[in-house]
Amino acid sequence: SLLGGVLAVCEAAQRDAFPSAAAAVNIAPTGRAGADYQNNSALALYGTMKAAGALPEGVKSPRDVAERLAERMRAHDREAIFAKVEVAGAGFINIFLSERWLAERVKAIVTHGVLPPPSRQLEVVVDFSSPNVAKEMHVGHLRSTIIGDTICRLLEFCGHHVRRVNHVGDWGTQFGMLIAHLKNVFPNYSSEPPPIANLQQFYKDAKLLFDKDEAFKKTAHEEVVKLQAGDGNSRYAWEQICNVSRREFEKIYSRLEVDLQEVGESFYNEYIPGVVAHLEEIGLAKPTDEDAEGRCAKVIFPPGSKHENPLIVTKSDGGYGYDSTDMAAIWYRIFELRADWLVYVTDAGQGPHFDLIFEAARAAGWVTQQRLDHCPFGMVCDEHGKKYKTRSGEVVRLVDLLDEAVHRMRDGMEARRVEAEASGAYGGRAPNMAAEEMDHASRVLGYGAVKYADLKGNRNSNYNFSYERMLDPKGNTAVYLLYAGARISSILRNAPVTPAQLVAMGAAVELGCEEETALAREILRFQEVVEDATATLLPNTLCEYAYGLCGQFTKFYQVCRVIDSPQQNSRILMLSALEGVLRKTYRLLGLGYLERI
Ligand code: ARG
Repeated sequence: SLLGGVLAVCEAAQRDAFPSAAAAVNIAPTGRAGADYQNNSALALYGTMKAAGALPEGVKSPRDVAERLAERMRAHDREAIFAKVEVAGAGFINIFLSERWLAERVKAIVTHGVLPPPSRQLEVVVDFSSPNVAKEMHVGHLRSTIIGDTICRLLEFCGHHVRRVNHVGDWGTQFGMLIAHLKNVFPNYSSEPPPIANLQQFYKDAKLLFDKDEAFKKTAHEEVVKLQAGDGNSRYAWEQICNVSRREFEKIYSRLEVDLQEVGESFYNEYIPGVVAHLEEIGLAKPTDEDAEGRCAKVIFPPGSKHENPLIVTKSDGGYGYDSTDMAAIWYRIFELRADWLVYVTDAGQGPHFDLIFEAARAAGWVTQQRLDHCPFGMVCDEHGKKYKTRSGEVVRLVDLLDEAVHRMRDGMEARRVEAEASGAYGGRAPNMAAEEMDHASRVLGYGAVKYADLKGNRNSNYNFSYERMLDPKGNTAVYLLYAGARISSILRNAPVTPAQLVAMGAAVELGCEEETALAREILRFQEVVEDATATLLPNTLCEYAYGLCGQFTKFYQVCRVIDSPQQNSRILMLSALEGVLRKTYRLLGLGYLERI
């Protein structure tokens, strides 16, 4: 990587110039004074050496430190990475990369492929999507699914071992009434799968009965007890209900090509009693005062928490809830899965819940080196900033939402095809795309558009859902990006030589004009961007990069002819590197890639 190469030289220089000073080298990308990077180590170095009374002879200021460092950097630059190294201000070192080195790095992408930034392999658990059985999977779950998937893709690309965990809400007292209702309406449930067309409606019906029919309510309570006691029949009925939900969820996951492993709330149920007992033993979980019926709950007020409400690890009726399950889940992930990094992708409203869970886990002494992240996101709103609903005020069915985007893309393509045919555009060659290819393209475009619209804003903000905006081929959209990719692929497809042939011939990349150098720099930022997006868990960084890269290509292509130009071979190599980076970037964003549209 660019930064890797720069860092290596700076580290060697620092060890050489100040062998006894133990301070980390600090390099940052910069646009200042037209430089590529800045070495900002001198100030801290000066500080540490001064504090230790170890300033070398003749070094009186951070600037002196910077001068010595810069001199050593030039000496250690054996590969001629730097065009120039300059000390500025109080002791900053501006680094200008050499064009020859940039050109070599671009060529390396063609020869070796698009590689991830180097990183130590970690065991990561990403808890995302996580809808609830028999309740609607709403736009919030869709956001979690899309953002969580991209986070997994980034982590996997960086070489981590990732568990994509779907923490489905498949447990709780509501199953009592669902099972009771199932047994009433579909007495044959044990010999054939219950034909429940609309599980949400089924839930509503059950709830209605539960609220008004005392006998039903009693049966429902009995069913919960039986289910929790592991009664075979109740468990079977419970599974039937979960299956109906699971089939619905699968439709979304398969359309979006999101891979998830279901480890629902029910999985942790058997671990809860032990975990709660342990939390009591160490004095973290404490009984509340008795209620009117003489019962008490068990709660945790994590020391130092800013939240006033406690975690409820056991309810006053002895039952377990969302908090109990998440305490058991975090315990399981740390001790059984031995995870180094836990990521939870949910709406921002659950921030306080995860603060408490993390605080309690720390207070319990469970957390040593592990990194814990709640990765929150804002609400999905309509064009007017209101909660997203259908015109009639109902919640939007996600399958319909996705299909709508695809249909709109398909209609648009059809309209353009008819128009092109009528006007004789494309030099008389009407786009000869077969219907299946158009179907495929509209799926890639439509699903891609929904995903990208979700990813491109900072996830912490709310986002306004608008088909017009997300499908705009001229906006910052997946449609725009996919069209740009197809254009680049078409240039390469029509070139007289392939990149592989050029590599075999030993052709080189040469950076002749400003636009070429700018494009090379942008291509080479890839690893840094991936590193940054992964460390911060902010996929929008990657979207900004993709959009900027396509913009840089457009600027390049306006002034640089490729085919039949004197620079043809170099430019084909450059576009091949660009295509590789774009494909990889789209893949990380969960988008497909279209060779032609
Ligand atoms: N099922 C929850 C919901 O729909 C999300 C679960 C998130 N993950 C967790 N471990 N609590 O809001």
